[in-house]
Amino acid sequence: MPEQQLVLSSDRIQTRITELAARISADYRDKDLVLVGVLNGAFIFLADLCRSLSIPHQVDFIRVASYGDSATTSGTVRLSKDIELDLTGKHVLLVEDIVDTGTTLAWLSRQLSAHRAASVRVCALINKTERRECAVEIDYRGFNLDGFLVGYGLDYAEQYRHLPDIYTLQP
Ligand code: PRP
Repeated sequence: MPEQQLVLSSDRIQTRITELAARISADYRDKDLVLVGVLNGAFIFLADLCRSLSIPHQVDFIRVASYGDSATTSGTVRLSKDIELDLTGKHVLLVEDIVDTGTTLAWLSRQLSAHRAASVRVCALINKTERRECAVEIDYRGFNLDGFLVGYGLDYAEQYRHLPDIYTLQP
């Protein structure tokens, strides 16, 4: 079992989510908001974020993967579950657990332009900049963190997603 080092406690995560949710609730008041969670990693973050919002909204998911069981991106994004709601005229907030190279987000932004949403913004719990390859904009950002991270939805070979805190994994 690789060694794990705590970097973000669940208390810190929840406090930050409350702050992000307050901003999002204010910014989208009176707007038709759809949260689109990027599976699999975002499922826990989205579950906590949506329950902290004080405004009505819809929730949908898209499933893409570029890492498989590897620690490095394949560079190719594969869509395995598309959005099912009609996003025409809606204000979309993409919800990501982590932005790393930016490959996934850049691909999703291109993909979403076909849906004719009124606006598309991004909320990411973690912004990891050390390996950024594509310039991407994150409108609502939880934390800037580097290292190989697991827990709170983040996996290594599908393990560790269930951990309530976030850890760096030492090889
Ligand atoms: C993770 C994460 C993001 C993406 C970010 O997904 O959830 O979608 O990587 O990395 P990038 O900025 O380098 O593209 P992953 O492909 O590991 O699938 P998962 O969500 O099922 O863990």
